[in-house]
Amino acid sequence: MDKTRKSGYNVLESTNTRVPMTIRNQVPMSANKLPHGAFQWTLSFNLDQLQADHFLVEGLELPSNLRYAVKKRQIEFLCGRLCAKACMENLGYEAPPLIPTGEDRAPIWPAELVGSISHTDRLATAVVGRATQIESIGIDIERVIAEATPQLIKHICCDLDELEGVRDAQKISREEALTLIFSGKESLYKAIYPQLRRFYGFQAARVKAFGSNRLKIMLVTDLSDNFEEGTSWDLQSRMPSADLIETMVLKPRL
Ligand SMILES: CC(C)(COP(=O)(O)OP(=O)(O)OC[C@H]1O[C@@H](n2cnc3c(N)ncnc32)[C@H](O)[C@@H]1OP(=O)(O)O)[C@@H](O)C(=O)NCCC(=O)NCCS
Repeated sequence: MDKTRKSGYNVLESTNTRVPMTIRNQVPMSANKLPHGAFQWTLSFNLDQLQADHFLVEGLELPSNLRYAVKKRQIEFLCGRLCAKACMENLGYEAPPLIPTGEDRAPIWPAELVGSISHTDRLATAVVGRATQIESIGIDIERVIAEATPQLIKHICCDLDELEGVRDAQKISREEALTLIFSGKESLYKAIYPQLRRFYGFQAARVKAFGSNRLKIMLVTDLSDNFEEGTSWDLQSRMPSADLIETMVLKPRL
């Protein structure tokens, strides 16, 4: 992974703007136009400077289950939804609605869209595309793991070949490689879940590096007729800052 490039993705076009509107005035947002007509918006924020009611002007209101949640959870949720809204605007929605959450915590996208959201305490991001062009998409941001202990490696169901393969090919530390594998598996989970509709564990997938620029994530277990062992996705990764790793899986519709 080239750490000097903040965007390691196959990005067609990028902008860095402070959109002159409302809450978007207060938070730096950046957009990436991705392949297959998808968009990504990322927002960096300072929890101390934001309140939930700053988002009302965008039509983003907290759902009832988050009204009494801690502020960190409320702001992360709203920042993720603002990124999703900006992506939907790029896709031609004039007044995108707030994406609701299902009982399983997964966002409920309009039938014609596929999307995914991730956040940390200072960065939120969303990717959204058209279901006619994209079969599945998932995104995840993780803080770099402090120490790649044997317990953690086991928890992520990562074997040493997988870990060393990613580390050597990407020329990153063991901790960064383990974080990338973990994040890649979380991205895949988010991409698959809307069709699979059930939980599955980290043992189901494996990350493989092909040189320094290409990563794949592959199912090593049959999950369903649509998600059989051997199904693979391109996996992209980048480091938005020295302590964060972001991954994205995207499968275009053939
Ligand atoms: C659901 C999960 C993926 C969330 O990831 P996380 O790193 O904890 O948190 P992130 O900030 O990256 O993502 C949270 C967002 O994911 C989305 N999300 C939650 N559950 C989801 C699901 N089942 N499917 C798709 N997206 C989901 C939501 O948009 C959520 O944000 P919101 O609550 O503000 O809407 C994770 O907690 C989880 O349960 N993983 C399952 C185990 C797994 O990954 N197995 C790997 C298989 S190879």
